[in-house]
Amino acid sequence: MALENPINPCIGTAKGPGETPHEYTFVTPDTDESVKNGEFVYYEANVAGSSRQIVGRVTQRRPIRLYPDSFMADPRVPPGHVAGMLGYHADPHELFEITVRILGFYEPALGDFINPRLPPRAGKPVHLCSDDLLAKILSKRTIEQRGSIHVGSLLSRDPGSVPIVIDASAFTSTHLAIIASTGAGKSYLAGVMLEELMKPHNRACVLIIDPHGEYSTLEEMANHETFTDEAGYRPNVRVFKPEQVKVRVNTLDMGDYRALLPNLSERQGYVLNGALRDLGKETAALASYQRAIALDSTLAEAHFKLASILQDRRRHQQALKHFAAATKTAAPKTRWLPDAYFALTKSAQRLRRKKRAIAALKKYLEIAGKKHPTRPEGLRMLQQLGGSIK
Ligand SMILES: Nc1ncnc2c1ncn2[C@@H]1O[C@H](COP(=O)(O)OP(=O)(O)OP(=O)(O)O)[C@@H](O)[C@H]1O
Ligand SMILES: [Mg+2]
Repeated sequence: MALENPINPCIGTAKGPGETPHEYTFVTPDTDESVKNGEFVYYEANVAGSSRQIVGRVTQRRPIRLYPDSFMADPRVPPGHVAGMLGYHADPHELFEITVRILGFYEPALGDFINPRLPPRAGKPVHLCSDDLLAKILSKRTIEQRGSIHVGSLLSRDPGSVPIVIDASAFTSTHLAIIASTGAGKSYLAGVMLEELMKPHNRACVLIIDPHGEYSTLEEMANHETFTDEAGYRPNVRVFKPEQVKVRVNTLDMGDYRALLPNLSERQGYVLNGALRDLGKETAALASYQRAIALDSTLAEAHFKLASILQDRRRHQQALKHFAAATKTAAPKTRWLPDAYFALTKSAQRLRRKKRAIAALKKYLEIAGKKHPTRPEGLRMLQQLGGSIK
């Protein structure tokens, strides 16, 4: 049996099954310390008539033979020297038992591993996977291919020798969470992924909501040559500072208000909740009046109610327009007509349209009964505006 493979030298010998059906163990002296935790190894097996490399991952490393404790009695003398003095010159003394979790052989047609569900026979040589094989089986994409995100390279190999390239479409159309302990590099990884998305081979359109201001450096990168190409592509980055971002008050719900007003008492919360509910009903009513007017622009009362809501919301321009439509289309004896003229005056005043205000006020005083509740206020307003009644 040929134990030596010029590219992937044999590093150990299979010993037997592990604790679970997907594990096996092998024994190695590991003189060059290449069998690290997380490292990829394989053994060869015959599957359905062809020889396959059954890949697995090192999950545990346990010493099974160490120097006797007495060899370490003097910290100034290495145990190897003691062994030499005692005549042990043969193979390295230490031995390790390595546990491997089987992934299976890589099937390119499926883009995945197939597990033969059979641990290796004792005595089978175990090899370290080549960089090339790992690059092929760990990454479905290659660097700078369209839709590829190059995030780094395999830690257990020399820097850059096994690039890890992930498929952007696997998460850009769905979701992605980066989960790790504090300081492990989550934000950094997110930054690398964003840079890759901005490169000319991807040209992605990215929106970042960055409450901690961690990604502001992306703005400087827009002109860097890594992100531009000969065809003149360059990412367009715009950063909005918190003070430039405005949120419409009517999009906030009770949960948002609680977050913005942390010291709200229970009673205050109750009152605010009620007010927000009423506001919601009012907004629904506003939409209904608008729909009604779109269907029939002569619905005087719809104009009046819509104008009243708009005036409450200080949208005077719009309010004035609908008060005017209401007064124009209403029948002469309509109950709310004096109120419509009075309200029209107020919006006109707000918009500093003095003539309009005076004209509406005069009309109000003309049609409102002597005991109309706002008549005294109307007379005062007329005086202020400098108008007079005959
Ligand atoms: N791949 C990497 N190479 C070099 N340095 C890195 C790498 N990843 C992270 N760092 C550095 O490690 C530190 C912590 O990284 P980072 O802020 O990304 O961690 P985090 O997981 O987002 O932390 P937190 O949970 O506090 O948000 C930073 O100084 C960062 O520059
Ligand atoms: Mg972070």
